[in-house]
Amino acid sequence: MNPLSEIIRREAAQRGVLSFARFMELALSCPVHGYYETKKDNPGRHGDFYTSVGVGELFGQLLAFQFAEWLEQLRIADCQLRIVEAGAHDGRLAKDILAWLQLKRPKLFGQIEYWIIEPSPRRQEWQKKTLEQYSSHVRWFASFHSIATDNSQSAIRNPQLNGVIFSNELLDAMPVQRFGWDAAKKTWFEWGVAVGGGKFIWARIPDTLAPQSGERAGARGFDPSSILNLPPSLLEVLPDGYTIETCPAAENWWREAAGILERGKLMTIDYGLTAEELFSPDRLRGTLRAYFHHHASDDLLANVGEQDLTAHVNFSAIQSAGESVGLRTEMFSTQSQFLTRILEKASKDNSLGKWTSAQARQFQTLTHPEHLGRAFRVLVQSR
Ligand SMILES: C[S@@+](CC[C@H](N)C(=O)[O-])C[C@H]1O[C@@H](n2cnc3c(N)ncnc32)[C@H](O)[C@@H]1O
Repeated sequence: MNPLSEIIRREAAQRGVLSFARFMELALSCPVHGYYETKKDNPGRHGDFYTSVGVGELFGQLLAFQFAEWLEQLRIADCQLRIVEAGAHDGRLAKDILAWLQLKRPKLFGQIEYWIIEPSPRRQEWQKKTLEQYSSHVRWFASFHSIATDNSQSAIRNPQLNGVIFSNELLDAMPVQRFGWDAAKKTWFEWGVAVGGGKFIWARIPDTLAPQSGERAGARGFDPSSILNLPPSLLEVLPDGYTIETCPAAENWWREAAGILERGKLMTIDYGLTAEELFSPDRLRGTLRAYFHHHASDDLLANVGEQDLTAHVNFSAIQSAGESVGLRTEMFSTQSQFLTRILEKASKDNSLGKWTSAQARQFQTLTHPEHLGRAFRVLVQSR
C-alpha cells in the first residue's frame, strides 16, 4: 500500500467502514498525497483528465468576453468588481481570462480584482507562478469563509461581492455519497469502503454509523429518493443494486458561493445531467468513474491517489440549492450553446480579432457534441 492508502486504511480500520465520500475526499484532496495535490500537469493530453482549459486559450477568451459583458452591466460608482474562480488548478484559465481582459478591455481590467478560492497551499504556489505577471490583480483565499474573516483590507471587510463567481470542472470532483437499492427490502443503503485481503473493498454502511466528513447531517436513514425526486412508481421497478450518487458537498459549496454574492452571476461548467436524465432505470451503476491515463474504469477503489475520480453533477440539485437561497436561474444549456452564443456576440464587435485556424479548431473541439460540446453543461444563476 502507498502512503495515502495507508492513511485511508487506518481511518477505515478505526471506523469499521469509511463512507465513500470520505474515501473520495482523501483520495483526491489529502493535503499531502491527494491526487490533485500531486498531479500538477494532469489536465492535458497526457494526463488523466482533459478539460476545456487544455484545449487552448480560446475557452478563457470566450469566458472573458462574457464576464466583461456581465461586469459592464453591474458597473456602478464606488463598486469594486471581482471575478472569483474556484478549482483553478495550475492557474491556466485565470491567465487566459486576465490576458484577454488586459488586451481587449484595459479599462475594465484596471478596475477588477481576480480572486482564487484555493484551499491547497501547494496549488496556490502553482497558481502564483503561472500568474506572476498579474500578481497585483490577483488575491487568494482558502475558502469563502476566509473571505469573510480576512480583514487585512477595508475593501473586503464586507464580504458581499459584486461580480462573477465561477468554476470549471470543480463540482464533479467533489466527494459523493453512493447509495444502492435493496429491492427485497425496498430501501436504500449506503455504500462504504472497508479493508479486506489487503485491499479496499465495498461494504454496506450500517444504519447506526454516525455521519462522516462530506455527508449531510443525519446521513444514515437518509432517503435519497426525496432529494432525487424519484417517483414511487420508479422505485417499484428499480433492479436490485441500482446505484446512485448524491453530492451534498457540491450543493453546500454552491450555497456558500451564493452567500457572498451581493450582485452578479454564479456560474459553473461541469460534466453533468438533470435529475430526470440521471435517474433512468437503464443507468444501473450510477455515474462514478475513475480515470487513469485517459481510460475510464469502474474500479473506483484501485490506484488510490493515482487516478481521478469523478461523478456527473446533478444540475437540478445545484439549481434548487441556488434558488433556495434567493438566486434566479438565468440559463442552463450545453457548453456548445453557451459558447456559440458568446461567439456570435463577440463577432459583432470583432472582440476576438482575426479568427485563426488554431482558434477555429479549438472552437470545434469545445462545441462539437462528440467532443466537449454536449456532455458539458453550463448553469448561470444571478442575484
Ligand atoms: C478536474 S480539476 C479542474 C481544473 C481546472 N478548473 C480545469 O478546468 O482544468 C478539479 C480541480 O478542483 C480542485 N478542487 C477540488 N475541490 C476543491 C475545493 N473544495 N475548492 C477549490 N478547489 C477544489 C482540485 O484541486 C482540481 O484542481
